[in-house]
Parts: sequence; C-alpha cells; structure tokens
Amino acid sequence: MSDAAVIDRASLDALDKKARAAIGASADEKALDEVRVAFLGKKGEVSLLMRGLGGMSPEQRQEIGPVLNGLRDNLAAAVEAKKSALEDAALDARLAQERVDVTLPVRSEPKGAIHPVSQVMDELVAIFADMGFVQAEGPDIESDWNNFTALNFPEGHPAREIHDTFFLEAEKDGHPMVLRTHTSPVQVRTMVSQKPPIRIIAPGRTYRCDWDATHTPMFHQVEGLVIDKTTHMGHLKGCLKEFVAAFFEIDGVEARFRPHFFPFTEPSAEMDVRYERVGDEVRIGQGDKWMEILGSGMVHPNVLRNCGIDPDEYQGFAFGMGVDRLAMLKYGMHDLRPFFEPDTRWLAHYGFTPTLLPSLAVGLS
Ligand code: DAH
Repeated sequence: MSDAAVIDRASLDALDKKARAAIGASADEKALDEVRVAFLGKKGEVSLLMRGLGGMSPEQRQEIGPVLNGLRDNLAAAVEAKKSALEDAALDARLAQERVDVTLPVRSEPKGAIHPVSQVMDELVAIFADMGFVQAEGPDIESDWNNFTALNFPEGHPAREIHDTFFLEAEKDGHPMVLRTHTSPVQVRTMVSQKPPIRIIAPGRTYRCDWDATHTPMFHQVEGLVIDKTTHMGHLKGCLKEFVAAFFEIDGVEARFRPHFFPFTEPSAEMDVRYERVGDEVRIGQGDKWMEILGSGMVHPNVLRNCGIDPDEYQGFAFGMGVDRLAMLKYGMHDLRPFFEPDTRWLAHYGFTPTLLPSLAVGLS
C-alpha cells in the first residue's frame, strides 16, 4: 500500500526532525500549541500516520507501530519540556521586569501635615464626644443679637466697641453684622433651635482687632454648653477637670476655679491649671504657678430666657477657651503669628500626620 510505502524509518526520522525543529523554534506558548496541534492533534501529521497503521501488513505494523508510538510519545514529551521551559522563561522575564531594588531609599512620607489648630480641634471633639457632647457649628458672620444681645451684653459694653470688634456694613434688624468675637453665639443658635437636654461642643474661627505675639485678628475658640434640669456647678468642675487631664495626657492635672465675670454666666469662673516654666518649656501639671486656660459658668437666666428656655425649669453650664493657646501650651510654640503664615517649614515641624486621627482609644497625639 502506498501509505505503508511512505512510512519507513527514514521518513519517520525526517518527521521527527521537522517536529523537533518546530518545537524548538516556538517562541511562546501559543506558537508551541500550534505546533502540537499540527503534529499531535487529531488531524496532525503523526496522528494521521497512526491511523495509517490499520492498512499495513502485520509485519509492517509490527515494525513501524512501536517506532511511531515512540515518536509520538517523544514528541509529546518534547512539547511538555518546551512548555515548561517557556513558562520558566516567562516567569523569569516577569520577575526581571518587576524587580524591586531593596537597596533604594524608602519612599518619602507624603507631603503635607495637619495644622496644630486642626489637630487640637479634633482632639477636643474626641474628648468631649467621649463624654456625650455633640459637635455644633455656626457662621463666622453673626448678627449683633446672637453675638452680644442674647448673651446678655448690655448696650454700651466695651466689647461692642470698634476697637475690639470687626463690624460689617451689612445690617440685620437695624444693627451692623459682626465677625463673631467668640464662639458663644453657637450657644444661642443651639438653644433657639433645640429643646433641652443639650450637650454641645462648638469649635470655630473667631475675630477681634488685635495683633501681637499672642493675639491675631483671627483665632480659634471652642465653646461648650450643657443644659438640662439638674446640671450644677459640680458637674462643670468635674467635666472640665476630666477634659484637662485627657487633653494634656497627664493624670491628676491640678486645676482651680477662680471667680470671674462674664455677662452670659452667673456665677462665672475662670479655670487655671498648675504649671511651671523650665527653660523655654511650659510644663503643665507641676510647679507652683497657675495659668488661666478657660472661662466658664452657669448659664445666666437672662440668656436662657432670650433663647426661649424657661430658667425655672432648666439650667446648665457653659465654657469657652482659645484653641490656639491650647495648641501653643500643649505643643510648645511661643509665637501665635506663624500659625497663620503659610510657611511649610513651620508646618513640617509642628504639623501632624494626616492618617492618625486623634482618639481616646488610640491616643490623642
Ligand atoms: N466667650 C468667652 C470669651 O470669648 C469665653 C467664655 C467664657 C465662654 C465663659 C463661655 C463661658 O461659654 O461660659 O472670652
């Protein structure tokens, strides 16, 4: 038979050579698979020859059969070997491409930092949130009523003078609007719009005509307000002492309350903390000096009344403090003015990592 005549050892050797050359020349797995199909696939050259075995004489089949089987197995093994060589090469190439030079310097920290004022505000909110206070806010431009009148400032009070307060041209109810001189108007806004019990903390920007190492025309305050039926001065003291210990991150900061006057609280008190100065450093919680850090008091009945709350039924306390000053004390800055100068070297030195949010559980700073 002609088929049988073609299948002699020489032609099988030639086929073997051809297939091995093709396998060897395959540049990637896809090309290799095409070669495999061309020789060993269902209609591949080797498979067709195998089919021809049936038409051979028993002697020929006996001679050619094992050779052809061997050829097929060897080629299959050669394809496998080439396949794993290609896979290895592909992996090597990928590894070479993705190579990381571990001796290179580490990537620098992301640029930018949280400003100490923002940091301290976040710290304050974290501390008071833990005591059940809710954050509140109000606008920088306020009515005279919210900033002064409702807070029981009499007409002609010195704070209403031009040398302390920025008055705007716009008017409301016949009075000029002001840049709020404190965060206390947030108390008014809250009491006017919410029913007690109230427990808020309100950090924000405030403005006064002042400019020296410890005063800037724009600065920051935080206001606190608690209103319900039984809150008294003891709660005020306990709450603020706990705040000071948490904020300065020292146990047992000694604090004292000193009688004072604010139009919107009665009685009023300033709170001082014990401190000493060691060289350039201010150490809170030790020494024999006292530093005033906040104003506070029981909300004046007139203020409650002005905000539509019955002072015979409700009472509570309020406090306010300068955020910038707290930041200076806690983080050791001496001059307030660089707080508001866009000097990135200052911020790189005093700023905080953006990814570390202050929390009482993890740590404030
Ligand atoms: N508003 C006061 C200030 O600007 C701070 C202050 C004192 C706020 C006593 C209060 C308070 O709520 O009760 O100096």
